[in-house]
Formats: sequence, structure tokens, C-alpha cells
Amino acid sequence: MKTNILVIGGTGKTGRKVAQKLNALDYNVRIGSRSANIPFDWNKSETWAPALEGMEKVYITFQPDLAVPGAKEAILQLADLAIKSGIKKVVLLSGKGELEAEACEKIIMDSGIDYTIVRASWFSQNFSESFFIQPILEGHVALPKPEAQVPYVDTDDISDVVVAALTSDDHARQLYELTGPRTLTFEEVVDEISKATGRKIGFTPISLEEYISFLEGAGVPADHVWLINYLFGNVLDAPGNNRISNDIEKVLGRKAKDFSQYVTETAKTGVWNQTQEAAV
Ligand SMILES: NC(=O)c1ccc[n+]([C@@H]2O[C@H](COP(=O)([O-])OP(=O)(O)OC[C@H]3O[C@@H](n4cnc5c(N)ncnc54)[C@H](OP(=O)(O)O)[C@@H]3O)[C@@H](O)[C@H]2O)c1
Repeated sequence: MKTNILVIGGTGKTGRKVAQKLNALDYNVRIGSRSANIPFDWNKSETWAPALEGMEKVYITFQPDLAVPGAKEAILQLADLAIKSGIKKVVLLSGKGELEAEACEKIIMDSGIDYTIVRASWFSQNFSESFFIQPILEGHVALPKPEAQVPYVDTDDISDVVVAALTSDDHARQLYELTGPRTLTFEEVVDEISKATGRKIGFTPISLEEYISFLEGAGVPADHVWLINYLFGNVLDAPGNNRISNDIEKVLGRKAKDFSQYVTETAKTGVWNQTQEAAV
């Protein structure tokens, strides 16, 4: 019989690819998101049990981030419900360098359910599917922490590892740290995208205070500003956060995707050459 797998965040950056790959392997996939047929909303715990019903395995991507206040309580409650619903395996997407996320990892690890923790570095796709795309389209990126070296990881690799963890017993009770094969500064990222698209994109280092005031002035919601402040202030250049891991190769038997490959492939889609209006 086919395994039923709930993919929470199944239309998001990693969840979408996980769902596609599981479907291609003929698993029964249920998307867990606010817009799904059986809606799942992290802010409405009454939606969780119907989404879990009849499922055997779950891929958990929390929104907006495991570091936000209330995440620990939500993960605890979901883990409890997962046990009651008969879930046999959980794969949790976590963030590298986030102490609060590690507390959530521990809840899953101590829950008694079989688990795999996938602790990822910043996604390469943040520059094409998330908040960093806007300044790239505007032709000018201004960010704090210009010295930070980030081992960006590709969501193709993350989703391959998640699918392996969901479909094989080999990854039971494992914690994998997923990074790309090298680190880049923001300026190097902008330079690569600029060269690949043939567009002139500038980079200006600014202070974290300037960045936060800019976001507030642009009307970004307060909880989002809080998260950005946390990520830039506490996570980006935390000790060890630039460490390269070979866990992708360990799990998949091939090298992690280099940032340049991501840039070349993404440039071909035209996403960095669209009008700003089209990107919103
Ligand atoms: N981005 C990174 O660099 C990075 C790095 C490491 C770890 N992570 C972790 O990855 C996770 C996902 O982050 P992301 O920014 O990449 O997002 P994402 O996966 O692109 O998130 C979008 C998905 O979440 C769903 N969603 C949004 N709000 C929801 C809610 N309240 N309840 C249920 N589903 C909701 C969306 O569908 P609907 O709109 O239909 O609800 C969509 O399926 C976070 O826990 C983050 O900490 C991210």
C-alpha cells in the first residue's frame, strides 16, 4: 500500500519540490498549507488534526521560522498530536545557527517518533523566491553584515535529502546539516547574479540599524522586521555558521550544488529580468 505523507508548507520553497518528488515516486501526498484542500494553519491549531488524519509520515516546515516566540509550543503540540494520530516518521526542517530552532529539534528528537532533522543554511533561493529578489530587480542591494560568509544551500539538495529521509529507513534518528560547498558574501552573490543576467546590480553595505529603519519605513510588518533583525543580528555570522558540511554528499552520494550553478539555472528562467511589478 502507498504511504500517505503530509507535506506542511507543501507549496513553499522546499515543500513544493518535496511534494513533486514524492508524487513522482508514487507516494500519496497531502499538502499542508492555508490554501490546501484540507487547510492547515500554524495559527489555528484546530486545523492540525484533520490534516494529520490518515497520514503516516510528515515533513514539517514551520512558519515563519522556528526561532519566533511560540514556535516551541506549536512544535510540542504538533508532535503530541502526531503521536495520537499514529504518525510513524517526522522530518523537521530547521535553521543552522538558531538556538531556538535547536530547542524545537530536541522536542521532535525526544518525542518518541522516528525522526530526521534537516538543519539547513540560508537557501540560495532566497535571492529568487523570497525577500532578496526585490532589491535585485531594483538594481541595487543594500544589506548589513557585508563580511558575513554564508554557505548557501540549494532547495533542490534540501528536497532530495528530505525525500530520502521520508522514503528510506537509513536516515532514522539522524541530524543532517545542509550547506552548499562554499561560502559567499552578499557582494559576491550580487556580483554573480549581475554577471549571469548581464544587468548592472550595485551593492552597498549598511548598518543593521539602517536596514531595520528602511524596512519599517517601507511598511514591512513588525513580526517580519523582528525576524530579519534576529537573523541578521544573531544568526548570519554566528560562530560556526560559515562551516561547510558534507552531509548532502553523505546522504545523496553526490556533491552539493554550487551557488554558481543555481545562478546560471535561475538566470535562464528570466526571473531576475522581469519587471518589478511582475515579481510582486
Ligand atoms: N529561507 C531560508 O533561508 C531558510 C533557511 C533555513 C531554514 N528555513 C526554514 O524553512 C521554513 C520555511 O521558510 P521559508 O521562508 O523558506 O518559507 P516557504 O517554505 O517558502 O513557505 C511558504 C509555505 O508555507 C505555507 N504557509 C505560510 N504561512 C503559513 C501558515 N501560517 N500556516 C501554514 N502554512 C503556511 C505557504 O502556503 P499557504 O500560503 O497556502 O499557507 C507555503 O506552502 C522556516 O521554518 C524557516 O525557518 C529557511
